[in-house]
Amino acid sequence: MGWIAGIFAGLAVVAFLYWQLIVAEGAYLGRKVVTLLYDWSAHIYDRIKHYDTGYETYFLARPLASTLFSLPNPLVLDVATGTSRLACTLLDEVAFRGRVIGLDLSRKMLKQAVLKTARYGDRNALLWDDASELPFPDDTFEAVTCLEALEFMPDPDQVLREMVRVLRPGGVFLTTNRIGSEAKLMPGRTQSADELQKKLQALSLEMVKIRPWQEDYDLVWALKPGICAPLGVRKLEDVLVCPACGTPVTRMSGDLPAGGRAVGSLRCENGHVLPTAEDGVVELVHVD
Ligand SMILES: C[S@@+](CC[C@H](N)C(=O)[O-])C[C@H]1O[C@@H](n2cnc3c(N)ncnc32)[C@H](O)[C@@H]1O
Repeated sequence: MGWIAGIFAGLAVVAFLYWQLIVAEGAYLGRKVVTLLYDWSAHIYDRIKHYDTGYETYFLARPLASTLFSLPNPLVLDVATGTSRLACTLLDEVAFRGRVIGLDLSRKMLKQAVLKTARYGDRNALLWDDASELPFPDDTFEAVTCLEALEFMPDPDQVLREMVRVLRPGGVFLTTNRIGSEAKLMPGRTQSADELQKKLQALSLEMVKIRPWQEDYDLVWALKPGICAPLGVRKLEDVLVCPACGTPVTRMSGDLPAGGRAVGSLRCENGHVLPTAEDGVVELVHVD
């Protein structure tokens, strides 16, 4: 009988690990575990996902670019940008004339993003940071996006609040809602379409539209009430604030290498240094 109990105990451990590490991707074990799992899988992430370019263009880039088309220099923040899926499809879209800032907590995902976005030069900037406190002033971006990531964060509602805070009035909000059988295995991290709709309306978003998209995700569009007046080109350093003290930053040294990403670290008004790595990623996790 002992060996039967042993088999059941073994199966229970395997099921638990499968749930925690494969389905929930470490979400209940803390952000360090989530980040570690993405660091481990970053080099094969795109191969696992095998995104279809036409599909990405049709569902993401075209609708986003057409909503932003009346603005000459739209600035988009992509939260949990991963290997820069959103930036690549959007920056390839001819109707999109703006820039994308991507933020992620996995440095290895960002390394992949650096390789994939090199051809866009300084139209794409990358930040190594946690999504729970976004280092930007209120009402900064014409669009804020976060795809396939909220459910892996310790407090998805806090990230939603932050996304809405940094979105300009009149700006576009785009995220995903986890659905399907596995969504039920992530209590406290997932919600029904109705619940999410109410949550976003409570955050003052309007025209919330939740549409079927993929087997595991619905696509969620909304607008922040107000009007976006056109603004000039804004680079990362024009909108970033110091995560330690909230003051604006300036670039300390270095110009753009031909067609490339900005180099030279950033410094805030109080002297905190926001290091920029050699690959151009601004490493805010080191600032305290
Ligand atoms: C499934 S991937 C999605 C990446 C990308 N948005 C896409 O659609 O391909 C989830 C991403 O969320 C990031 N992530 C998880 N928790 C995070 C957090 N607290 N702050 C920032 N990024 C986080 C992970 O590092 C990973 O790159």
